Amino acid sequence: MESAASRQSPPGLPVPDLTPAEDQAWSALLFARRWSRGATAPLASATPVPDPLMATEGLIARSEATGWGVPPAATGEVRTLLELYLPLLPRQPMATLTLGHLGQSLDGYIATARGESCYVTGPANIRHLHCLRALADAVLVGAETVAADDPRLTTRLVPGDNPTRVILDPRRRLPVARQVFQDGAAPTLLVCAAGEGLPHRWGQAEVLAVPTAEDGRLRLEALVGELHRRGLRHLFVEGGGLTVSRFLAAGLLDRLHLAVAPVVIGEGRRGLTLPASPALGDCLRPSCRVFRLGADLLFDCETRPDPGGAGARAVTEPREANSLGAPVLSRVY
Ligand SMILES: NC(=O)c1ccc[n+]([C@@H]2O[C@H](COP(=O)([O-])OP(=O)(O)OC[C@H]3O[C@@H](n4cnc5c(N)ncnc54)[C@H](OP(=O)(O)O)[C@@H]3O)[C@@H](O)[C@H]2O)c1
Repeated sequence: MESAASRQSPPGLPVPDLTPAEDQAWSALLFARRWSRGATAPLASATPVPDPLMATEGLIARSEATGWGVPPAATGEVRTLLELYLPLLPRQPMATLTLGHLGQSLDGYIATARGESCYVTGPANIRHLHCLRALADAVLVGAETVAADDPRLTTRLVPGDNPTRVILDPRRRLPVARQVFQDGAAPTLLVCAAGEGLPHRWGQAEVLAVPTAEDGRLRLEALVGELHRRGLRHLFVEGGGLTVSRFLAAGLLDRLHLAVAPVVIGEGRRGLTLPASPALGDCLRPSCRVFRLGADLLFDCETRPDPGGAGARAVTEPREANSLGAPVLSRVY
């Protein structure tokens, strides 16, 4: 295991604040997220948009046919923010969504060979990670990420609640001194391979036993089912490369956010590692939207085109596309 090296918010990292207009749009998103979490029955088409949403000056609209939408009046940075995050809101209260994210170099690495990943991507993408945490019910990471980074996995750079933290450590390699097991900042689950002699708790974390497949790997569909049963329906798989790859290979990712930074690492920890495809035609070629985050490009990929009606379809007016033919952040952070 690598030595701990914090990857979270080092002093001096110039993470941009939300502008007042973005802040208002973000508040509307958080409100819509909480509202849809709290609702327990399918929303009828006649469901009126609740007052607090109206209080955000009509920034978000919702209809059963189209889901959450960006009103035509939204422009510039507010429109881009809503276009990026509205598809992550549940269209119906019980809908599920699993999103993966990796920040990688031009040559496809997420960390150096020593495990250093502070920072592959720039500050705008770091803030984006915190937005993804705030919108999720649970954030999941593999054991190697906790070993290398000792992350807190909390929402600190934008307003929003901390998600439940889920650490995949099948062989129980991680020391109890890691921050996620000690700080009590959010409910925490340590996912281990089912077997004899598992403790009930590891520090402040609850130990969750999950069955393994013949190859000894955790049965991720069993884990996801258990998280859904606990009401954790919006899952954010934050890394590392092996963990995101296993969710993708198991067909469990609805969306994948790949942030590509203009840096070449040469040799290091791989981002996606999937079984080889015999032919190019067999390769996964998801539909993508591309957003600009500072110097990085974010590919928002629909890896499972119809996630059971989980996400919203942003209702957007035709707008000017850039040379990438996709919406981009109108403002460079
Ligand atoms: N740039 C980014 O976006 C980003 C994000 C996060 C982390 N990182 C960096 O990436 C590196 C860690 O990534 P990584 O790919 O090496 O490892 P990782 O995905 O963090 O952890 C992999 C480990 O998690 C456990 N695991 C995950 N899924 C499992 C499954 N289905 N079944 C059984 N075990 C499972 C396994 O533990 P066992 O080996 O014990 O079986 C596996 O070796 C660190 O250097 C970190 O700094 C970068």
